[in-house]
Amino acid sequence: MARRSDAAVHHPVFARWYARFSVAAETRGGLGVVRERLLGGLAGRVIEVGAGNGMNFSHYPGAVSEVVAIEPEGRLRELAREAALRAEVPVDVVPGVAEALPVKSEAFDAAVVSLVLCSVRDVPRVLGELRRVLRPGGEVRFLEHGPGGGRAMRFTQRALDRTVWPPLVGGCHLTRDTVSALRDAGFTLGPYRRITLPEEGPRLPYSYCVLGSAVRPS
Ligand SMILES: C[S@@+](CC[C@H](N)C(=O)[O-])C[C@H]1O[C@@H](n2cnc3c(N)ncnc32)[C@H](O)[C@@H]1O
Repeated sequence: MARRSDAAVHHPVFARWYARFSVAAETRGGLGVVRERLLGGLAGRVIEVGAGNGMNFSHYPGAVSEVVAIEPEGRLRELAREAALRAEVPVDVVPGVAEALPVKSEAFDAAVVSLVLCSVRDVPRVLGELRRVLRPGGEVRFLEHGPGGGRAMRFTQRALDRTVWPPLVGGCHLTRDTVSALRDAGFTLGPYRRITLPEEGPRLPYSYCVLGSAVRPS
């Protein structure tokens, strides 16, 4: 029997919503600029986990020789394949889940997770997989949302996490702390900074983000 974390990720309603929301957020929410910062300076072989509809693909720099993009959700994977055709670097879109990456060990120079660790079923297991597939000294680039704001916002985030948010938003959680999780998984934190998305305007429960890098020790 398949383990729960190996089972297919099937969120058709979320997939349809995200396909629209992510395109609007790219320009109106300023996410395109943030994706440039997330991926700037990358080179060599990259694995992107939970690639969604492929919004990062057009932002990879030319020094990237290949992106293997893992996406478990069928509709989003289809859209990612279309985005891959428009990308300037070679992108191979592959089904799979982050908890059991269908790739060889130590095969990648960098791994990218953007707005994904909130949704996976088992964060420590996913980070263990990223350690496995990165070469020693390889880098994780991350853009993730998490807990933030004042007491009222944090209370709201916790309440939403316990109730409607995960079932309504494709398994997303609002209170996961990516920086602590990376440290606990044995990564060495590189530079990171807290940002809010969108930068201007009202703060939403998913506005509190962290953007940065971490290294797999040799
Ligand atoms: C909010 S979307 C982000 C998509 C993309 N990374 C981006 O930056 O636009 C979350 C993505 O995580 C994927 N996902 C959910 N659970 C996953 C898992 N266990 N393994 C890999 N990807 C997963 C979803 O299918 C979805 O594509």
